[in-house]
Amino acid sequence: MSLRERDARVIANIARLRFSPLGLVGGAGNRLIEEGGRQLLDLSASFGPAILGHGHPAITAAVSAACANMAGASLAAHPNEDAVALAEDLLRLTPGGGERRVWFGHSGSDANDCVMRVLQAATGRSRFISFIGSWHGGMSGPISISGHTALTHTLPRAGLLLLPYPDPYRPTFSADEVLKQLDYHFATTCPPSQVAGIFIEPLLDDGGLIVPPAGFLQAVQQRCRRHGIQIIVDEVKVGLARSGRMHCFEHEGLEPDVVVFGKGLGGGLPLSAILGPQHIMDHAPAFAIQTTAGNPVACAAGRAVLQTIADEGLIERARRIGAIFSDGLRALRARHPMIGDVRGRGLAVGVDLVADRQSREPVPVAMTAKVVYRAYQLGAVFFYVGLRGNVLEFTPPLTLTEAEAEEGLAIVDQAMTDVTRGLVSDAAVAPFIMW
Ligand SMILES: Cc1ncc(COP(=O)(O)O)c(C=O)c1O
Repeated sequence: MSLRERDARVIANIARLRFSPLGLVGGAGNRLIEEGGRQLLDLSASFGPAILGHGHPAITAAVSAACANMAGASLAAHPNEDAVALAEDLLRLTPGGGERRVWFGHSGSDANDCVMRVLQAATGRSRFISFIGSWHGGMSGPISISGHTALTHTLPRAGLLLLPYPDPYRPTFSADEVLKQLDYHFATTCPPSQVAGIFIEPLLDDGGLIVPPAGFLQAVQQRCRRHGIQIIVDEVKVGLARSGRMHCFEHEGLEPDVVVFGKGLGGGLPLSAILGPQHIMDHAPAFAIQTTAGNPVACAAGRAVLQTIADEGLIERARRIGAIFSDGLRALRARHPMIGDVRGRGLAVGVDLVADRQSREPVPVAMTAKVVYRAYQLGAVFFYVGLRGNVLEFTPPLTLTEAEAEEGLAIVDQAMTDVTRGLVSDAAVAPFIMW
């Protein structure tokens, strides 16, 4: 029986998001190894965490050493060198003033959940603001403040103010209109004194790789700051060098009170972190404990990731390879009318597929799924996102080479040609339309 068939028999559907029949037996560098031995170019990094690719020597060495001499398994119970040093590194690398403290968890989801709980407790305020299109995680708390179409199975939390995220390509609401809505809510049904914090993705990834209009997030920040509302920047998907800056919020001139890291921080191992003001993060002892959080093995991976970003110049590389890749995708517009827009920052790149360039009407989701599926057949792995499921998402390892970027472009080109020619049937792709 194949891995995929066994997977279908034992792994819960609620945990699966499968865009192709790919089943993995290994990974090396920026390649994934499929059952049977075929190697595929990884242009997703498993939705971002495999920031250094697969089996990077720095991570392998750090994790092996930490594991072979394991300083306990719980930061809650006692400090360990890797956790404390990683916290020191994160504080050094993240701009922000005043006394700050670090919390470690296992995922972006638990980190955002923790932020919600501690902010409510520490500020005595119970409401939050977030954006339509945002994805803050798959636990009760973060789902309830997310604004993604794929999460409408769970109701938003009471008192949530969900604002549109202005999209320069499909400007349903301009930045000014959203600011006007915010002001109106503050003046009427959402007194700012009730709001603990605003969750901001500095680049709306799962919502369609939307880069906000210049100055918009700063204007939001100004308004919230005036009312003592905490600014929480969710860097889980696009932080840590991916955007071509160490932190994506730096592009937007944001000065967050709280920064949330996940995904790439662990280089594939489960690790997340929150940096926040001491008076909030020290709210009460043992307020947000998870036994194995901050364990030395995951934190050793985190230290290796930060060290490798510096050693291999990955910020600059994300910018350079990202530009090559994005320019290449833009060049494909001449051959593929389905490409409406190419956008993003660094190595977080989205391709918005349209049925008609004039109206910018998104393609049906099956069309996006076919491009992803065909690319898998041709040897590249990436997925799709967006509120209408029409945006190809490229978040490759930051170690992607120029040659690999060119190889990826050739596969995307061929996949689009083949899909346009009708080479992928509706039936073939039907099991892989996930959202
Ligand atoms: C911006 C953002 N925040 C938080 C999360 C949740 O992270 P995780 O799924 O690792 O818990 C995600 C996941 O996609 C995300 O994109």
